[in-house]
Amino acid sequence: MMNLTLRVWRQPNRTAPGRLEVYQARGISPDMSFLEMLDVINEGLIEAGEVPIAFDHDCREGICGSCGLMINGQAHGPLARMATCQLHMRHFQEGDTITVEPWRARAFPVIKDLVVDRGAFDRIIQAGGFISVNTGSAPEANTLPVPKPMAEQAMDAAQCIGCGACVAQCPNGAAQLFTAAKVAHLAILPQGQPERWERVDRMVAQMEAEAFGSCANYGECEAVCPKGISIDFIARMNRDFLRAQFRGR
Ligand code: SF4
Ligand code: FES
Repeated sequence: MMNLTLRVWRQPNRTAPGRLEVYQARGISPDMSFLEMLDVINEGLIEAGEVPIAFDHDCREGICGSCGLMINGQAHGPLARMATCQLHMRHFQEGDTITVEPWRARAFPVIKDLVVDRGAFDRIIQAGGFISVNTGSAPEANTLPVPKPMAEQAMDAAQCIGCGACVAQCPNGAAQLFTAAKVAHLAILPQGQPERWERVDRMVAQMEAEAFGSCANYGECEAVCPKGISIDFIARMNRDFLRAQFRGR
């Protein structure tokens, strides 16, 4: 069992000032996940009649993108290719002090404590992250064969879970990696071709309309991305965006 000190960001709502509060985590099993450790702290707070720490979570297996915490200044904590819910306490040492904060980005305002509003991501998807389908019977599956290398590349991009770690870790708070992944996974597939140029145009425009910063090639996004999305997709998005501007001229 481990004993730890936690410094946790507490903020009652979007507009109230927040601050780091200190909590003692006693008798933590190294086999607990980071979120389970927070559950233990919360049980103690509830028993003491205090307000539990608000944090986002859903699947707790690295696929939904809900969880996301700055742990000692690193998005999703110290291990690469891992969402917060997949991080286990055995990666910390007895007696450690751990600072837990919400995503820090202007485009992701804090809702409460460790929960942020990632609606800006939803609006980027709404701007073009889809393929339009007409109603009618389902098309024959083999009418549009997808070459294997194309499918693999599209899947690499489609792995993005929309967690927002890329934005949180970027010194500029830029959303290029997320947007590029969402543009690419459709732009690579034959099904994505009819709306390819309009899609990139609209998604980039929405990204720029939100409060994200600009990409300056720091590469911090790729380093913290739990799915290892490559910044090569940003280059691909930029190429497609430029081509979209010159089409029809
Ligand atoms: S690109 Fe990676 S870090 Fe960014 S939202 Fe997608 S999965 Fe999360
Ligand atoms: S809770 Fe779903 S990815 Fe962590």
